[in-house]
Amino acid sequence: MDEELILLNPGPACTSRAVKNALLRGDLCHREPEFAELLTSLRDAVPRAVGLGNTHESILLTGSGTAAMEAAVISAVRRDKAILVVNNGVYGDRLAKIARANGITAHEVSPSGDGLARWTTPIDPDAVRTALREHPDIDAVAVVHHETTTGMINPIKAIGEVVAETDAVYVIDSISGMGNEDQDLAEVQGDILCGSANKGLHGLPGLSFLMCSDKGIARLSEVPARSLYLNAASYLSAQRKGEVPFTPAVQVCYALDEALEEYEAAGGFAARTHLYRERAELVRSSFARLGLRILIEQPHRGNSVTTLHLPDGVSYPSLHDELKSHGYVIYAGQGGLSTEYFRICTLGEIPWHRLEQLGDALEQSIKAARS
Ligand SMILES: Cc1ncc(COP(=O)(O)O)c(C=O)c1O
Repeated sequence: MDEELILLNPGPACTSRAVKNALLRGDLCHREPEFAELLTSLRDAVPRAVGLGNTHESILLTGSGTAAMEAAVISAVRRDKAILVVNNGVYGDRLAKIARANGITAHEVSPSGDGLARWTTPIDPDAVRTALREHPDIDAVAVVHHETTTGMINPIKAIGEVVAETDAVYVIDSISGMGNEDQDLAEVQGDILCGSANKGLHGLPGLSFLMCSDKGIARLSEVPARSLYLNAASYLSAQRKGEVPFTPAVQVCYALDEALEEYEAAGGFAARTHLYRERAELVRSSFARLGLRILIEQPHRGNSVTTLHLPDGVSYPSLHDELKSHGYVIYAGQGGLSTEYFRICTLGEIPWHRLEQLGDALEQSIKAARS
C-alpha cells in the first residue's frame, strides 16, 4: 500500500500536510504577545467559521471535546438547580454523567421504546417542553447536535424554540456537527455550544471550545466554580485580556490556525457543508450497491457518520483488518451496537479518489472477511 492510511473513524480525523506542518512553526511562550495575538485571532475565527461570528464569544480550552462538555455543563447550572439532558446516544449519556459526577441533578428525556429505538429516534421537542414543566428546577437544557454514536441529527432548532420560552440556558454539544453539518447554528438559539478542533474544522486533537451567547455569558458569572481547571468564567476573563489560566497546547493552536485558513480559503461553511453532503452521497451510493443497511432513517442522517449493519457472516474485527490492509480504518458500533453494526465516518481531510475507491475496497474486504 503506497498511499496514506485514511481514518474513517469519527476523530481523530485526517488532517492536511500544512496543518501537520504548522506544529513546526516553533516554540512560543504563552505569556508573550505573539501568543495573545494567536489566541485573539482564534477566538474570532472559530465562531466566524461556524456561523456564530456576530452573536457568540468563544472560549478556547486545551483538552479534548469532553473537556468542553464538562466545562459547559458545570458552568451552566446555578447552585441547587438542575440540568435537563436530552439523551439518545453515548454523548447525551455522557452529558448526564458529567452533571452527576459534579453533583448536579440531571433529569433526562429519551425517546420512548427500548434498545435500538432509544438511539435511533431524534428527540421530540414537545418532550422537552413537558420535562421543563414537570421540573421547575431546570436551569439548563443540554442536547447533542449530531449524535456520533449513530450519525443521527437531533432537532436542535426546534428544541431551541422550546428552551427560549424559559430562563434555562441552552447547551449544545456540536462537537461533531459544528462547521460541517448543514444546520445554520445562528438559528438555533444556543447559549453555550461545544466544539472541537479535530472534527469538521480539520485541526489537530487537543483543543476544544465553548461558544457563548450573551445569555450564556451572563449565566457563567452566576454559577459557583465547581472546578479549578474547567471553570468557563475563569477562561473567559483571562482570554478577554489575551491570557490563558493554564499552559495551552500552543502548537495545536498553530495547527488550528492553519486549518481555519484552509477552511476559509476553500469557501468557508457553505463549501465545507457542500463537500460533506457530496461525500455522504458518494459513499452511501456504494453502500447501497453492496446492499449494506444504514441504521438511521434518511431524514435524520447527518453527513459524516454512517452506521451500517454488518453483512451476514462478517465479524467487525475481520472486516476492520481487511479494510485496513486496503488503507482504511473503520470504527466499531458503539455500546450495544458493537456486535451487529460498524461505522464509517467521512470527517477530516480525505482525498476524493480514496472515497471513490472505498466501495471496491469494502466489497473485497467483505468477501475476504467471509471466507
Ligand atoms: C458528539 C460528541 N461529543 C463529544 C465527544 C467527545 O470528544 P473527545 O473524545 O474529543 O473528548 C465526541 C467525540 O467523538 C463527540 O462525537
